Parts: sequence; C-alpha cells; structure tokens
Amino acid sequence: MTRAPAPPTIPELRPGQSIELLKELHILTRDGKLNQDSRRKLKQVYHLYQFIEKLLLELPEGQGPTIVDHGAGKSYLGFILYDLFLKSRATGHVVGVETRAELVERSTALAQRLGFDRMSFLHLAAADAVASPVLPPTVDMVTALHACDTATDDAIDFGLARQARFMVLVPCCQAEVAACLRQHKALSLSRTPLAELWRHPLHTREMGSQITNVLRCLYLEACGYQVTVTELVGWEHSLKNELIIARRTGQKKRSAAERLRAVLAEFGLGELEGVRFGRLAVAASVDSDTTEQQSSAFSL
Ligand SMILES: C[S@@+](CC[C@H](N)C(=O)[O-])C[C@H]1O[C@@H](n2cnc3c(N)ncnc32)[C@H](O)[C@@H]1O
Repeated sequence: MTRAPAPPTIPELRPGQSIELLKELHILTRDGKLNQDSRRKLKQVYHLYQFIEKLLLELPEGQGPTIVDHGAGKSYLGFILYDLFLKSRATGHVVGVETRAELVERSTALAQRLGFDRMSFLHLAAADAVASPVLPPTVDMVTALHACDTATDDAIDFGLARQARFMVLVPCCQAEVAACLRQHKALSLSRTPLAELWRHPLHTREMGSQITNVLRCLYLEACGYQVTVTELVGWEHSLKNELIIARRTGQKKRSAAERLRAVLAEFGLGELEGVRFGRLAVAASVDSDTTEQQSSAFSL
C-alpha cells in the first residue's frame, strides 16, 4: 500500500498555526510553501508579535485580553494575534477599526471562515472609536500599525479614554505638525537659528514626524504611561519603523506635561494643544491615578 506523502514541515511555523490564514495573508504560497520573500515577512510578523506577546502575558489570566487595532487594514496583525495567542485561550477579543468598508467585510468573512469567532471588525474612523458604545469601556491593549496620518493620535486618545493597559504603536507619517511648522516657518526663522532644522521642505516633513512622535511620548507620560521607543528591526520594507510601547502605570507625570507644552511653544505649535492633547488639563490636575481597571471581557 502506498502512503500519501506527509505534508512538508516548515520549521518557521509554530504548532497549531493556521495554514489557511497564512495563505490568505500571502505568507504561504497557494501550495503551502514559504518563499524567500514570505520567509522575511513571517520573520517580521514574529518580531512584532514577540513584543506584544510579552505584554499580553503580563495580563491576569482568565479574562480578556481585549485588543483594539486601529487602522487595521487587512487586519493581518489582529489575525496573527488571534491565531498565535487568543485561539488557544477561552477568553479574549480582537476588534479591528477600519474606514475602508471592503476591508471590514473581507476580514469579517475571513474570521468566519477560520472560525475565529472572537474577532470583530468595525467600519469606523479611529476618531469615532472613542465615542463608540459598541466598544468596551476599558480595554487591555490598543494597537495601531502604520495607521495613516492622525489615526495614531486617535488611537492614543481612544487608549487614554478606555484606560488601555498597553498601547503598541508604529506610527505612519503625520502631516499635521509639519503643516504647522510650514505655516510659521518665516516667523521661526527670524526668531531662532534652530529653525534651519526645518527650513527645507524635506526637512520640514522629517522634523514634523520626529516632533510628532516626541509629543506623543510626552503626552502618554503626562497621562500616566511609561513609554519605550525602539526600532522595529527587520521592518526593512518600511521607513516607518519606530515602535512606541506605552504601559499604563497611572502615574501622571506633571514634568512631561510641562515639557510637552514647552516643546509646543518652542516650535510654534501651541494651537495643537487643544486639538491633540486635550486630556493634558485633566492629567495635570491629578498627580497620579491608581484606579484599578475593571475586567474588560465583552462580546460584540
Ligand atoms: C497603511 S494601512 C496599515 C494597515 C495595517 N495596520 C497594516 O499594518 O497592515 C492603514 C490603514 O488605515 C486605514 N485608515 C486610515 N485612516 C483611518 C482612520 N482615520 N480610521 C481608521 N482607519 C483608518 C486605511 O484605510 C488603511 O487600511
């Protein structure tokens, strides 16, 4: 009797990992193989996953985690998190927030097909998530991977409002700060030689990006988070590889709020305080917040 050939084993795959999902994400080819390109892609996915897994393992067992992914796109981050972490657990939910209806429909169908029944996808702008009654009052983790422009800021706002224990952010380019720098460039150049740092249009954009992420970190610290900034090594396909991880401590740093305001003033960005950093006033009025988070189990 001839035996059917055993399916090829791929050392990079983890036990129980969904082959169908990896094919859908084009990490595996249709015939279930890894090529050089997809091997690199898988390495990148694991690299980000290992940061997130460490944080998820810190959460109490038996409830959650509730993860809300802003600017989810095809939701490959959410799917990988579900497949590698949530699938084998009895609790937890991943919600993708995405403005493109066709991606929401596609992800919903894929989750159904794979039986990933604790995944949901909302056709919603990140800015509207904060007021959405569909999302739970507290969440464990907010992620935003290359969420366009100010969607990362909206994700932060959501995370602050819903007392996220962790935020994992890989920002995309943000145009708002650069536009402000551009608008006040002449005045800045007359005021300080440091304005040379953003005189040329390319530098305006780069400085805008750099300042944006610096302000985001200060804001998170001012609102009770400990922040680390690292490089998402191996993410060579994108220049946007800054990984910001924020962990909720409840210790709101007054000094960070003061620094944030000073940076805004120095760069002529004062008008952004009300627009982007609206929770500063609340943060400054309380030195620390040790409110214990409620269980964030929920169903959509
Ligand atoms: C560059 S893609 C990244 C997708 C995914 N996070 C990833 O890394 O593969 C950005 C996604 O964010 C979505 N998006 C842009 N602005 C958004 C907003 N304000 N709210 C929600 N989604 C948004 C876009 O439609 C797009 O699918």
